[in-house]
Amino acid sequence: MNERRDRILTAFAEKFGGSPDLWARAPGRVDLMGSHTDYNLGYVLTLPISRDTVIAGRARHDGMVRLHSLAMDAEDCFTIDSVERAGRGYWGNYIRGVASVLLQEGFALTGLEAVIETVIPLGSGLSSSAALECAAAVLFQSLGGRQLDPVRMAQICQRAENEFAGVSCGILDQYTSCAGRAGCALLLDCKDLSSRPVRLPDDISVVICDTRARRELAGSEYGMRRADCELGAKLMGVPALRYASLKQLDSVSDALSARAARRCRFILEENERVLRLENALARGDREQIVALCAESFRGATELYEIVTFPMKMMVDAMLAAPGAIGARQAGAGFGGCMAAFVDTRSVAAFSNAVCLEYRKATGIEPIVYAVEAADGAGFVEEKWQEVNS
Ligand code: GLA
Repeated sequence: MNERRDRILTAFAEKFGGSPDLWARAPGRVDLMGSHTDYNLGYVLTLPISRDTVIAGRARHDGMVRLHSLAMDAEDCFTIDSVERAGRGYWGNYIRGVASVLLQEGFALTGLEAVIETVIPLGSGLSSSAALECAAAVLFQSLGGRQLDPVRMAQICQRAENEFAGVSCGILDQYTSCAGRAGCALLLDCKDLSSRPVRLPDDISVVICDTRARRELAGSEYGMRRADCELGAKLMGVPALRYASLKQLDSVSDALSARAARRCRFILEENERVLRLENALARGDREQIVALCAESFRGATELYEIVTFPMKMMVDAMLAAPGAIGARQAGAGFGGCMAAFVDTRSVAAFSNAVCLEYRKATGIEPIVYAVEAADGAGFVEEKWQEVNS
């Protein structure tokens, strides 16, 4: 931690002089069950992870926002009076978007100079963009002298991503990053944006297995799946798939393409699995956990079709490794990170075996690490910031 803080302080002194006085942070997330259920207003079991993004800044009174990202080794600069969207895919849009939406919400923002640092691997499906938005929202709110509740903040960050980054994502990533609590996963109900804490058994750890395979298709394929789900809901006469049953789906199968029917089936089944997994975790029922993760991965492969070759190789490596309890996709799919439930005593042996097997199968060196449940977006603990601690 000290190393991170020192890196930030050095960069800040170099770029802006002096030291920052506002330190915000927000975690990434990994979903444990509930792929693509969020925009269908369903359930997700999600974990805010112990990998976060820190933005350390200081107010400016000339209306300028000057940002230096250590991860991108790049700078962004805009004025708070006229926040414009930059080109598609530009990292600064996440922060510009948050500033813009907060201004539309009536926040009186001042300028800012800040250094951004992260230990969330970028673009790997752990919501580094949501963490950036949520940490930025914490900072901007404090400049604007008002504090939003975590759910409202998540909605603002989601809007920023939709409107400024041009990604029509659901609320999962921003909700997890804003509303997470250390020590437990969240059972999120996207219908009313409520959530309840879910404790994971002490003897089960969550291990991230990063395929390190790029997720190029994710953007366009995501939108196509979303459209298929919306079409299915419309034909069944419900506002979202959350409100539909498999029986209703069967009754419209003539009117729906085989592909859209597969997509809808996956969502209906996956939604059920979220509640079943919550139950299995509460009972420490390992057999159920294995089965539910396997069903989820099968559905993601055959019905939702978001599984790529490296992901198949990774799931094989995960399931064959010592201590494996369950293994499945995470995030939007199409490569990126996957998640495993692992017997806590075997995490090191599991990680070694996965690395070896996956490398043998794909020639790619994966990254495998255990994560814990972290607190949602907020200010960095004071002891972390103290220069002389
Ligand atoms: C991405 C999106 C989320 C969610 C997941 C799939 O992470 O940003 O809103 O749809 O994919 O569950």
